[in-house]
Amino acid sequence: MIIIKLGGSVITDKSRYRTFRREITKKIIDVVSEFEEELILVHGGGSFGHIMAKRYGFPGSVNLKNKNGIALIHNDMESLDQKLVAMFHKHKREIFPVPPSSVICGEKKNLDIFRLLVEKNITPITYGDVYFKSPDYIGIYSGDDLVLDLSRMFRPEKVMFISDVDGIFDKNPKLYHNAKLMREVKSRANFENSSIDVTGGLGHKYEIMKKINETGAKVYLLNGNFPERIKETGRVEFIGTVLS
Ligand code: ATP
Ligand code: IPE
Repeated sequence: MIIIKLGGSVITDKSRYRTFRREITKKIIDVVSEFEEELILVHGGGSFGHIMAKRYGFPGSVNLKNKNGIALIHNDMESLDQKLVAMFHKHKREIFPVPPSSVICGEKKNLDIFRLLVEKNITPITYGDVYFKSPDYIGIYSGDDLVLDLSRMFRPEKVMFISDVDGIFDKNPKLYHNAKLMREVKSRANFENSSIDVTGGLGHKYEIMKKINETGAKVYLLNGNFPERIKETGRVEFIGTVLS
């Protein structure tokens, strides 16, 4: 099995509310649809999630002022999801969306639907979402957290994080031109953030990647702006970071 996280930074313009990067997303989906292995897809929110989450103060307590933000953010995420599902349908790939806010309530998560779909040879697609962490607190279940939970459940051979950078650098390449790509992470990286992100940015992602790697999966971080790299994981010519 392969689990793929399509990062919000590549499928959307993270700085402009609800801006879908249609061309590049289509190219990525063209490549991903060709995989013959069992697949689970997870996508981030980018500007369909983070901008309004920040404006409404989520993650955070629910009050009269921010209550309607929950539906707005969920609906925005769902509309992004629908765009991806439509692209997969063109490839005649059977795919079924699983909104996390419907399977997670408080501390209880029921991810059985993913097992059922995989058994039926249907590709589950899920995404970062708002959810009730407690009756009065809205949490954000990030796509990266979902990838970790699903990796613990399915023990995939490969997990790919598709982002807008070539991999993990020794420091943020968007801020420092002399940043060096780390094909394997042997020394410490600095994760100074340059974007609006309510779920922790790349530092958090790297911690998740390490935990997934402990489940036995090879974990890749690669640049989705070069979709051919998705096919090259595991080969010498692969450009990106791998935890193997
Ligand atoms: P999202 O989580 O929104 O989906 P993503 O999964 O694609 O997006 P981000 O969490 O945005 O990934 O992480 C990618 C961003 O992290 C890059 O755009 C870059 O600006 C930033 N970054 C910070 N530190 C580093 C680093 N050491 N190496 C690479 N990128 C870094
Ligand atoms: C964010 O999900 C979802 C919301 C803010 C509602 P992610 O954290 O997985 O999104 P990206 O990939 O960082 O954009």
